[in-house]
Amino acid sequence: MAASVLTFVRGFAWRPLCKIRRAQAVCLPSAHLHLTAAAMQVSQKDFEKAQEQLKLLKNDPGNEAKLKLYAFFKQATEGPCNAPKPGMLDFVKKAKWDAWNSLGSLSQDDARRKYAELVSSLVSAESADLKDTSPEEGKHDGYETLLVTTKNNITKIMFNRPDKKNAINQKMYREIMKALEEAGKNDSTIAVITGNGDYYSSGNDLNNFANIQPGEVEKMAKDAAVSLKEFVGHFIDFPKPLIAVVNGPAIGISVTVLGLCDVVYASDTATFHTPFSNLGQSPEGCSSYLFPKIMGVAKANEMLLFNKKLTAAEACAQGLVTEVFPHRTFQKEVWARLEAYASLPKNSLAVSKQLLRSLEKEKLHETNSRECEVLRERWLSDECANAIVSFFQKKSKL
Ligand code: COA
Repeated sequence: MAASVLTFVRGFAWRPLCKIRRAQAVCLPSAHLHLTAAAMQVSQKDFEKAQEQLKLLKNDPGNEAKLKLYAFFKQATEGPCNAPKPGMLDFVKKAKWDAWNSLGSLSQDDARRKYAELVSSLVSAESADLKDTSPEEGKHDGYETLLVTTKNNITKIMFNRPDKKNAINQKMYREIMKALEEAGKNDSTIAVITGNGDYYSSGNDLNNFANIQPGEVEKMAKDAAVSLKEFVGHFIDFPKPLIAVVNGPAIGISVTVLGLCDVVYASDTATFHTPFSNLGQSPEGCSSYLFPKIMGVAKANEMLLFNKKLTAAEACAQGLVTEVFPHRTFQKEVWARLEAYASLPKNSLAVSKQLLRSLEKEKLHETNSRECEVLRERWLSDECANAIVSFFQKKSKL
């Protein structure tokens, strides 16, 4: 079935339709039965103008619009469908025949008018899109800690606190969730997460634990567990392909949620470190379930229990990273590949991603809840408090 659908898409490519239209435009009949010569002249002119406008469209308007254009064109130039019905398995011809046949006895003049109206609406929609594109290549407004852009069917969510190694503070957690919600709903085909500067991300901003008054610790832990669960939930439920472009070292939660991304590309300068026990904490981001599954129990234990930092090559060998690129050519090679992915049929990608995720979704949410519960306890522990104090003491001694 997949092959047939592909044949349909290929067989109904955009440029060939323009060629068909040009060839057929030469054979337009010169007279119509029920119109005066003057009215016919205007209608014919609009029809021809619409054909010229159609050639100027920059974007493929999609199969549905192309089928309508085809049907109106055939009806306008040849009248009601008179071709023999193609066989069921000839998907392209059948779709075109169905579209033409569905117009029934629509008059040729009405078909010309409808063709011109459809072209005009496609042209206006495209120019509105162009106007909406800001000079900063589709930059989304309203973010302080992220740079979010949509271009070439890709929504890029870039951590943007390079002077803090892209540590994720409260605001950034909220903004990442908002960006994922937007990217999940907008027209982009894929979403990409990456970091600005030399780090991908140094994980949870340890200042999130600072300045907490003694009486507020329990509330802080409870609220943080609720936010973390919601944050990880956004990765579990993300409805389209989500690709991590790991441009440098990654620590903590920025590593664990990689298991929830669909593809992970890394620069050879990237490292992968989950120092939970150093910090008196415990794994999150569904890593307690996904990491043993991805890399095997023994390797996952080294990372999650004993803080082993992996190089990009090791992370790739263990299945956490899809492919590693030399840093010099990383951005160029990866973005060329992502742009090719983003030109694939977006609905097919989305349903396939959701199908794959659906097998595990319940288990992932269950794991997320359990991990957040354990962490809530950990954040109240002396071990955790001492580790945070020691991070800030080391800083103040420098
Ligand atoms: N939380 C809070 N601040 C962080 C941070 C984090 N996770 N990661 C980096 N920063 C801050 C540093 O405090 C420093 O701030 P300052 O300029 O105000 O002093 C700034 O980012 C640059 O980091 P710095 O430590 O000077 O750079 P470095 O190259 O020497 O070390 C790290 C980088 C990431 C190795 C080091 O900052 C670090 O260990 N951070 C903690 C990582 C961590 O434990 N994350 C939680 C995992 S669960």
